Amino acid sequence: MCGIVAYIGQREAYPILIKGLQRLEYRGYDSAGVALLNGGMHIYKRQGKVSDLIAYTEGKDKTGQVGIGHTRWATHGQPNHINAHPHCSGNGHLNLVHNGIIENYSLLKKALEKLGHTFESETDTEVLVHLIEELQSRDSLTLEEAVRVALSRVIGAYAIVVIDEREPGKLVAARKGSPLVLGIGDDEFLVASDATPIIEHTKRVVYLNDEEIAVLSKDGYMQIKTIGNEVQTPYIQELTLEIERLEKGGYDHFMLKEIHEQTTTIADCMRGRLNATEGWIRLGGVEEFQNRFMKAERMIIIGCGTSWHAGLVAEYLFEDLARIPVEVEYASEFRYRNPIIRESDVIIALSQSGETADTLAAIELAREKGALVYGVVNVVGSSISRLTDAGSYIHAGPEIGVASTKAFTGQVTLLTMMALQLAHSRGTISESYYQRLLTELENIPHKVARVLECEPQIQYIAQEIQDSHNALYLGRGFNFPVALEGALKLKEISYIHAEGYPAAEMKHGPIALIDENMPVIVTATNRNAYDKIVSNIQEVKARKGKVIAIVSEGEKAISEMADYTIEIPETEDPLAPLLSVIPLQLLSYYIAVGRGCNVDQPRNLAKSVTVE
Ligand code: G6P
Repeated sequence: MCGIVAYIGQREAYPILIKGLQRLEYRGYDSAGVALLNGGMHIYKRQGKVSDLIAYTEGKDKTGQVGIGHTRWATHGQPNHINAHPHCSGNGHLNLVHNGIIENYSLLKKALEKLGHTFESETDTEVLVHLIEELQSRDSLTLEEAVRVALSRVIGAYAIVVIDEREPGKLVAARKGSPLVLGIGDDEFLVASDATPIIEHTKRVVYLNDEEIAVLSKDGYMQIKTIGNEVQTPYIQELTLEIERLEKGGYDHFMLKEIHEQTTTIADCMRGRLNATEGWIRLGGVEEFQNRFMKAERMIIIGCGTSWHAGLVAEYLFEDLARIPVEVEYASEFRYRNPIIRESDVIIALSQSGETADTLAAIELAREKGALVYGVVNVVGSSISRLTDAGSYIHAGPEIGVASTKAFTGQVTLLTMMALQLAHSRGTISESYYQRLLTELENIPHKVARVLECEPQIQYIAQEIQDSHNALYLGRGFNFPVALEGALKLKEISYIHAEGYPAAEMKHGPIALIDENMPVIVTATNRNAYDKIVSNIQEVKARKGKVIAIVSEGEKAISEMADYTIEIPETEDPLAPLLSVIPLQLLSYYIAVGRGCNVDQPRNLAKSVTVE
């Protein structure tokens, strides 16, 4: 949440900051702003998107080789110009951008007000910049020292970058709980919330650790210290990300591109880890902790949003195939409900971004209790990937559309491999079934390509139902989490109210809502309980509901009842979510486009939720 970018070097900062902010816009788009140092300080901020900021700065002085920028997802205070970052100190010398939440800001604010400080905005960030100013003037501290002392008084999460017009050749950056990456170029540095604004300038990066402060100078000097004032040796890493993966590649939206990429991202997730001909699956992290996994009495899967839905699919997989009891928890509930965690538990943390604040906090809790924590993450080098005991990347590449698509199928692919590897080691499935699932899983990317062929048909159905006010998604077994995910996709990007339900549970409530205006999207590819789902569809039709059914190729009974039928290739039940979710992603996409919604940046949402 909120994106930060900063530059110091020999080039003009403004274009670098703006391009960086556009790359980070998925993190928030309530307002955007920059501060540039060039003799004095130029500050430009605007409510709305980065494009509004660009229009606003037209014809204004944007020179300067040092600058900071911010794109905001509002937490404290409305998304207006005044609350937009950067925030300025009372004396006008300092400017600061911040991602995170300063929890004790109101106490600090009162103390500063007593000392004569006045505040323009409602933000916690403005309090922090005034605190730094106060420490500088009261104790004659340098910028770096004042930042260090101020942060030792702050409770909460932050990633910040500060500039001071009296020390114009310097950027000071720090983090705790919110991510920050330093890019090291030739005689220049960049700082950003993730590597995407950095990649086109340099591939050499340092991921700042919690409670570290970096001082970056125009002359190429870099020093990293802890808040406790200990000098640290930076660990410089080489990024492997390719710039093309951050572009739309001819598609109208990132979301559509990412839906189509699933033919390759699922294959990338399996590459080097599965060989059906030779009959093996190998996830390095699972092998390394084989003992703990074999002895696991229980697995607890934690995540938020779409990642939580992938966790629900995994519950079916681990219990069905590996016979390990599983609980799936929203990270936000888990961390605050005094959960019972035993050393014999394995915790699996699911996160696309690797930065979700609630998931991070839940991981810390589980580690304190001695459980093994395994991360399944997309973003390489992210906080979760560094905090967990072991883990596997899903290798889906950057996911930029706010509504998650390819990360979901990446997570499900990875968790399917994990369940199969464990099932095989634990001897809980027959050799022939194991082999059949391996062969089928390896073949899934080809089947995904065939599912995508139904795009024109889905486009048509989307037009037919795009004016609905509500929608119901139903599924059974492995397809129940898919129904939840389908409903979430529709809500997120088209603002149509939608609910996902287990098909049989419908008669305990949602059936009351069904009439001829209610589209009911039923994912009915199941071989198991097929007859039951046929009956559920009959129940909907009896109430004149409009049924859109997703069935396996050649299916007859449901196709005859449904108003619209989308046929997808047949597969084994445990692998069904990898195919059946794709028509639902496309359906939401085309409904949102038809309603004129901003698909990649839906209102009020952000891709990376770094506040609790
Ligand atoms: C936000 C995003 C969702 C995502 C969720 C969890 O709400 O908009 O798409 O599923 O966060 O994010 P994570 O990065 O932890 O998977």
